[in-house]
Amino acid sequence: LRTRKPIVAIDGPAGAGKSSVTKMVAQQLGLFYLDTGAMYRSITWLVMNSDVRLTDEPGIAELANQATIEVTETYVKVNDQDVTQAIRTPEVTANVSAIAAQGAVRQVLVRQQQEAAARGGVILEGRDIGTHVFPDAELKIFLTATPAERARRRQKDLERMGQPAEDLAALEQSIAERDAKDSNRLIAPLRKASDAVEVVTDGMTIEQVVAKLVAMYRSVAG
Ligand code: DC
Repeated sequence: LRTRKPIVAIDGPAGAGKSSVTKMVAQQLGLFYLDTGAMYRSITWLVMNSDVRLTDEPGIAELANQATIEVTETYVKVNDQDVTQAIRTPEVTANVSAIAAQGAVRQVLVRQQQEAAARGGVILEGRDIGTHVFPDAELKIFLTATPAERARRRQKDLERMGQPAEDLAALEQSIAERDAKDSNRLIAPLRKASDAVEVVTDGMTIEQVVAKLVAMYRSVAG
């Protein structure tokens, strides 16, 4: 007998619009929202601001074990320090894949994600939610867009956050590189779960994507 409320897993590559879409779907459906990428970014930030090296797997897992990460819809805190902006810098973005590829730290963060969402009524976004974190999620979406489209969106995001402008071609290149790292890593690589529904968002507005997902949720979870 299932006692928990439904879980929605949103996976997909960087810049597919996961965050905006997931937040809006959560709001419309009254679900809690958990951005798991923010947790990998938080640990990356923590490592970069410590003496622990990016390659020190046990040291990083230990740091993660002892850290208190608070991820909400409006802010992210690590050990009570507000890192909402700090975890979105190009420096953190450049280093996060190396840390997300480490099994020891993933074990720690996946357990925290499973505990945070254990009662259900949650929508989680990440790379491995449908494949590893909640393989029994009621609804699994693999949200993607072409690399060119994702680069354009990332450029707008950076602009909106007041960060230095980046060349579109360079952005597309770094998105492709991060995709490759996230997809080719040995542990929990980015891939569509066999029972996930792929939604390609090129040419769709955020509202259209949200409406589609809300309708899908209602058809599976009532
Ligand atoms: O979604 P994002 O760009 O904030 O994610 C940051 C990095 O963390 C990304 O390079 C992949 C990794 N990640 C992961 O490996 N597993 C998750 N569930 C979420 C993010």
